[in-house]
This record gives sequence, C-alpha cells and structure tokens, in this order.
Amino acid sequence: MSGNPDMAYDEVVMGRRSIRGYLDKPVPQAVIEEVLTLAMRSPTSMNTQPWHFHVITGEPLDRIRKGNTERILAGEPDSREFRRGEPFAGVHRERQIGVAKQLFGAMGIERDDKEKRQDWVLRGFRQFDAPVCVIVTYDRELSGSDDTPFDCGAVTTALVNAAWSRGLGCVINSQGIMQSPVVREHAGIPDDQVIMKAVAMGWPDESFPANAVVSERKPVAEAARFVGFE
Ligand SMILES: Cc1cc2nc3c(=O)[nH]c(=O)nc-3n(C[C@H](O)[C@H](O)[C@H](O)COP(=O)(O)O)c2cc1C
Repeated sequence: MSGNPDMAYDEVVMGRRSIRGYLDKPVPQAVIEEVLTLAMRSPTSMNTQPWHFHVITGEPLDRIRKGNTERILAGEPDSREFRRGEPFAGVHRERQIGVAKQLFGAMGIERDDKEKRQDWVLRGFRQFDAPVCVIVTYDRELSGSDDTPFDCGAVTTALVNAAWSRGLGCVINSQGIMQSPVVREHAGIPDDQVIMKAVAMGWPDESFPANAVVSERKPVAEAARFVGFE
C-alpha cells in the first residue's frame, strides 16, 4: 500500500493534474492492481465491463517507445483504431491552444522554437518516459455501440483519480496509441480487442515544470442547464 488511501474525494479530484514528467522509480504491481480495483467499480452499460488493461513496463515498453518514435520520425501516418473527427475549431480550438500555451509556458518552450516543440511531441510518443503505460482496450464485438467508448472513458477517468489517491501521476493520451500496430505487437494485444487509449503512469517528478500546470475549466453555469428548479 502506498500514497494516502484516506485522501478525501474532493482533494483527489481537485488536486489531480495530468503528469508529464516522472521519477525513474518502479511502480509495484500491487499498487496498480489496487488502483484498477477502484477504477473498475465504474458503472457500465448493462454491466458489460467491456474494458481490458494491458499494463506495460520495462523492456516491452521501451520497444513501444522506440517503435513509436521511429515511425513518427519516418512520417508514418497515424493508425489509431478509433475515429478522430474533424480538427478542432472555435471554442474547442481555443481551449486546445489554451492548455498548450500553459504547458509550453511552464516548460519555457517558445512558439517558434521548432526543436524544443519537436522534443516535446516526441516525449509524448515515448509515453513521457513514464515507468508504466496502461493500454486501455475494449472487446471488438461491442464496437458497434457508442456505450462502449463511453464506458472506457469513465473507467479511465476513475483510474487516473484512483492513481492520484495513491500518489501516482498519470496522463491519459492518444499519442501513445497513434501507432497502434507497434503497441499491438509489443504488448501482445489480441485481435478481438480494439485499442482505445494509453495512460502513462508513475511517481510524479515534482521538479518537472509542466506537472504544476492546472488546466482551466469552463464554469458550471456555462456547462449545465437546470430545468424545473426554483
Ligand atoms: C482522450 C484524451 C486524450 C488525450 N491525449 C493527450 C495526448 O496525446 N498528449 C497529452 O500530452 N495529453 C493528452 N491528454 C491530456 C489532456 O491534455 C488533459 O487531460 C487536459 O488538458 C486537461 O488537463 P488535466 O488532465 O491536467 O486536468 C488527453 C486527455 C484525454 C482525456
């Protein structure tokens, strides 16, 4: 057991941030099992629990980092297994730029510094050099239902919060699975599962500036409508 299992819910949720810099320190399997046990209490459509977690460390993870980096540098088009949609526009693009500015500002990366920007992007493809990467997949036979990615999103958010309550940092990311064939091969993911998302995980490096970034949220008044209240 590690971290603080008694951390209050508000403290976990309000304190969690995406972590993109990690200590070079292994994460015990038992802690990850505990975190998954908590996360998997998430509700799912008809209790289908369509998810699988491929928890990768050590040499296989290094092979994934290497394969991702090589293919990205070779200009290989991305091959994720889920729809990406149109590029963000309007308010969504503004929010995307907003958090990028916060992160680049913290890291001292200037807008026109192509080399540092490239380094930052490659860091993502290396899973931020985290000691652990969790690949979230789902049962292919349920891929026709939008409930399935909904359920995977719920469990993945629960996972990063549970990890935080144990002192572990995470960043959910698409970068790690953009070259899905690399991940499928080195993690040994069976064909009857669809690769959904990667979660880099490890002990946060408190001296890594981007880890201090607190991203913004739109206010509840902008997101929610209350109908039938006084
Ligand atoms: C579906 C999804 C995909 C994401 N992909 C990436 C990614 O590829 N690279 C990255 O650095 N962060 C990624 N993130 C992290 C988001 O940028 C981050 O959650 C958001 O800016 C809010 O910041 P916070 O997690 O610190 O609250 C992703 C998050 C989600 C939920």
